[in-house]
Amino acid sequence: MKNYNIAVLKGDGIGPEIVDEAIKVLDRVGEKFDFKFNYDFRLMGGCAIDATGSPLPQETIDACKNSESVLLGAVGGWKWDTLPGNQRPEAGLLGIRNALGLYANLRPAKIFEPLKEASPIKDEIIGDGLDIMIVRELTGGIYFGQRGRKEDNGIPAAYDTEMYNVKEIERIARVAFDMAMKRQKRLTSVDKANVLESSRLWRETIINVSKDYPEVELNHMYVDNCAMQLVRNPSQFDVIVTSNIFGDILSDEASMISGSIGMLASASLAGSTFGLYEPIHGSAPDIAGQSIANPLATILSVAMMLRYTFAEKEAAEAIENAVDEALKTARTPDIYKEGFKKVSTSEMGDLVAELAVK
Ligand code: IPM
Ligand code: MG
Repeated sequence: MKNYNIAVLKGDGIGPEIVDEAIKVLDRVGEKFDFKFNYDFRLMGGCAIDATGSPLPQETIDACKNSESVLLGAVGGWKWDTLPGNQRPEAGLLGIRNALGLYANLRPAKIFEPLKEASPIKDEIIGDGLDIMIVRELTGGIYFGQRGRKEDNGIPAAYDTEMYNVKEIERIARVAFDMAMKRQKRLTSVDKANVLESSRLWRETIINVSKDYPEVELNHMYVDNCAMQLVRNPSQFDVIVTSNIFGDILSDEASMISGSIGMLASASLAGSTFGLYEPIHGSAPDIAGQSIANPLATILSVAMMLRYTFAEKEAAEAIENAVDEALKTARTPDIYKEGFKKVSTSEMGDLVAELAVK
């Protein structure tokens, strides 16, 4: 039997609850498709701060490096909000992305047919559906540029720096073009080249890389326009490639088109099969421990793990189809609608696990 090694970082807030459900689903699917998962549970984020003083202990980094993939819940919470930036739970998240070289973040935003009514976008705008892949650069840009405090003519000031080098742009461009080749061969590169020098280099570099992909129809869009187009006419998009910060913002927006931020999964890749998988949403401390969180984004993240890291396409599809099926009858409170069964976090996990092996 095949054995797969996964480092698991449950994190804070709703992290542990949703990760437990994803593991439940993985184990059931493993039984059916004849593979076994070994989990190495480690601390990252606020829980790691409480236990060790650091949001990202070295042993967590080592455990991730020794595994074939990483499953992450979410980090952060009010409790740690007043800590200095480099000691916050979020610093652990940025640190692990960086330490593992996870520069390519794939965030698929799609409409699940049974959830169509949960989308705030009108039916006629959604049309036949919506299936966008956002490719977000994850280890560069303003998230990792120089930052600090200083005085500006005696007035306290602060700065963060957006910087990209050509190599960083080229490698994320290739991921996006390759992705477009596997899909509808349309790529939108999002930048702010009318204002930012870093965006002008971004655009030039994307155009250079596009010469290797003559079949892909490339267009460029300013980020403000893209934010508008996502709600005006989302089906114009196939693959979107963009910087770290623009991708952060646009993926939250795109998740809402699909009904709930609780539905959007993500894969962070390092140019090989190794990857870190996490829902795009946060730790939601306000609803933690109540078993009302939606575990589907995390469950869909492990489906991505099966697809991208372990090349277990059939098992990945079984999970994705099970999510689709589950939504026909059951809803967590965030996507609840009259006529459906209102279920808890773990009931949703049970149902998907059941349907995935049917
Ligand atoms: C995300 C999150 C993180 C980010 C935060 C928690 C640091 O919003 O994964 O989108 O900004 O990347
Ligand atoms: Mg975000």
